[in-house]
Amino acid sequence: MVAQAPSGKKPLPDMMTSIRIDKSGQVEIVDQLLLPHSVKWIPISTTEEAFEAIKSMKIRGAPAIASLAALSLKSSLSSSFNINGKSKEEIKNWILEKCNYLQSSRPTAVNLSEAMNRIRNYIKASTNSKSNTTELIEKVKEICKNVHEEDLERNMLMGKLGAEWLFKKSGEKQKLKVITVCNTGSLATSGYGTAIGVITALFENEQLDTAYYAQTTPYHQGSRLTSLELTTLQIPACMICDTMLGSLFQHEDIDGVIVGADRVVKNGDTANKIGTYQAAVLAQRHNVPFMVVAPVTTIDLSLQTGAEIHIEQRPSIEATQIRGLNLETGKLSVIRITPEGVGEGDKPWQKVYNPSFDVTPAELISCVVTEKGVAERKQGEKSINVSSIC
Ligand code: MRU
Repeated sequence: MVAQAPSGKKPLPDMMTSIRIDKSGQVEIVDQLLLPHSVKWIPISTTEEAFEAIKSMKIRGAPAIASLAALSLKSSLSSSFNINGKSKEEIKNWILEKCNYLQSSRPTAVNLSEAMNRIRNYIKASTNSKSNTTELIEKVKEICKNVHEEDLERNMLMGKLGAEWLFKKSGEKQKLKVITVCNTGSLATSGYGTAIGVITALFENEQLDTAYYAQTTPYHQGSRLTSLELTTLQIPACMICDTMLGSLFQHEDIDGVIVGADRVVKNGDTANKIGTYQAAVLAQRHNVPFMVVAPVTTIDLSLQTGAEIHIEQRPSIEATQIRGLNLETGKLSVIRITPEGVGEGDKPWQKVYNPSFDVTPAELISCVVTEKGVAERKQGEKSINVSSIC
């Protein structure tokens, strides 16, 4: 699947997505740890393979990990799962165990648990139904397929809504300068992207001056992935190091910050990639609109405030090493950038702090965009009524 332009517009150049499915139904993911230097497709046939790929971040991005988890369950139900001799109850338990297992791969992005909950809810509701085991399996497979397929269309809708909102907010300025963090494009979704979808829509409407994107250490989703997407799509863009955000706000006339989300809770507080909160603080200081763009599946009305969000801590070693192309050997290398032992040893001076996400309080967010609409924070209020766009 590739990013497509809304009807009537010049088609965008093809951009790879995180997942592809061939004619035989084989699911493959592009190994995002090797991008942009090397494109390697990895077949995923089982839930165990999907779990490992998600945990090791070969695939990442809230919608993409939900898609892969669901597709791996669908594949397992199509091939490796032998229903012979199994009761309906045994099959249901097997599916529920797989849902729990897949959900435990990454805790912060709610899209994954939302996808698994959809399957759980169906299983629960089917308790009194007369469906036979084959019908049950076929229905679960259909839910899994929908999780993946519904993503592209809603991203294009969010792109349109977000671009319209920001254009209006800017006083219909002709060319906007925006900032984004992390990677929210085709590689994080099933196509077009969330925050990058808004940037793409601005570009297609000829309303974009420059998209500034932060490198987003320690995983470099910005410098490795967003850069690949923006250069492929030929969108005017400029990379900044994470430490340069403040300087950029001071020296450029920025019109908006546009970010994705891993979980938006009832009051509008939003968990997203580490570094998002500091961008929001700076945006408020400089009176720049701060926009969160995420599908309805990222909204978690079961949590009241951001304080309840489970923030994933990644292994400290991931922040002490960088992966990249060794220009001397022409090969991919992993390089340690700290003294030996930092992040690995247990001495008090060898610690590393490495949370994968931070929480931006709603009071710093100007609006949340989903495929259902735009919820703005009202002047002087500290929360956003996201229930209105679910
Ligand atoms: O740790 P990652 O790379 O999975 O984190 C991804 C992000 O934080 C994205 O910005 C978010 O999932 C939105 S993706 C459309």
